[in-house]
Amino acid sequence: MTFRVVVLSGDGIGPEVAEAAVRVLTTLPLDVTVEERPFGGAAIDLCGEPLPAETLAACRDADAVLLGAVGGPRWDGGKIRPEAGLIGLRRALDVYANLRPAVQRDVDVLIVRELVGGLYYGRRGVLADGTVFDTCEYHPSQIERVARRAFELASARRGELCSVDKANVLETSRLWRRVVEEVAADYPQVRLRHALVDSAAMELVTNADRFDVVLTENTFGDILSDVAAAVTGGLGLAASASLGDGRPGIFEPVHGSAPDIAGAGIANPAAMLRSLALLLEHGLGRADLACDLEFAVDLALTATPTPDVGGTATTEAFAETVVDALRHADAPLPPTTEEQWTATP
Ligand code: NAD
Ligand code: IPM
Ligand code: MN
Repeated sequence: MTFRVVVLSGDGIGPEVAEAAVRVLTTLPLDVTVEERPFGGAAIDLCGEPLPAETLAACRDADAVLLGAVGGPRWDGGKIRPEAGLIGLRRALDVYANLRPAVQRDVDVLIVRELVGGLYYGRRGVLADGTVFDTCEYHPSQIERVARRAFELASARRGELCSVDKANVLETSRLWRRVVEEVAADYPQVRLRHALVDSAAMELVTNADRFDVVLTENTFGDILSDVAAAVTGGLGLAASASLGDGRPGIFEPVHGSAPDIAGAGIANPAAMLRSLALLLEHGLGRADLACDLEFAVDLALTATPTPDVGGTATTEAFAETVVDALRHADAPLPPTTEEQWTATP
């Protein structure tokens, strides 16, 4: 069977990291067609809207969507923003569970961010006196389905779930807590605790190793995932998978279009390549290839790091290392130091 992957490069460094990902994807031993479609600011320039109907139709028909990044100063202040395309696409595909892993040394956190509710999608407007409002809204069913997903994931990991909210102030957070407690009854093997978002942010900075799975609503998850990325090597490394039930998932880095380095050819493609690994695993059911790719990315981070992680390599050189490593994925590994020692008489 031939897999269909739709690539939405978007803006800024989006096309730079997407190019690296497509190069890697087409190197893999996989029967796949790759279709690029206009999205974000690039689509606004082309046809006046960030999510053209034809792009959305292609995404609906795909097995998975690989997305670069959208937005940039060019479209700030415009009537319609590139980010509206991203918000619209997530809703249209109903990808309600956004998995954002942050891994480094003794830290292995998985943030599960509710992605199609809350402040981003609530009622908003302008009142006659000039007051402006955005509303945080949640229906219990929206909380239940993402909570269930998080408990499932925690069951398959270390069995710890921290649900993050602001239940000391917000009505939506009190509902969140209640629904999470109800779902917890079905997962006795998972240890559940609740944390308030301000102290959870601090704990992520000071003791990220205490977390296994973190479950939270849309806006808190947006902020906490940048914090988690920062404490595990930076935004250049942080990947994400946005999943629904049986529809194509969206796989995208946590970072944005990075206007400050766009065009320089030095963006770190690791976040995008790790998102591609999540696509292989969750979107195409090829955990084996995902594992090879993760390994190749780790190798490139050591051999040819980009400036954001202390190196001097270009995006292209990084991708080249990954492609080379994948081509040799089946070759026997050189002996480890330990093996060399034991082999020495
Ligand atoms: P950003 O994530 O684009 O950049 C923050 C900082 O991290 C910058 O200094 C940038 O150079 C650095 N950085 C990010 N990714 C990097 C990479 N792969 N390699 C090296 N350095 C990297 O956040 P921002 O500057 O606040 O936002 C810029 C634009 O991106 C805004 O329009 C915002 O709305 C948009 N945005 C889009 C997405 C998305 O498409 N999913 C996510 C976040 C922000
Ligand atoms: C992210 C981004 C988006 C979000 C923006 C660009 C709409 O920051 O994916 O983290 O807030 O979800
Ligand atoms: Mn964000």
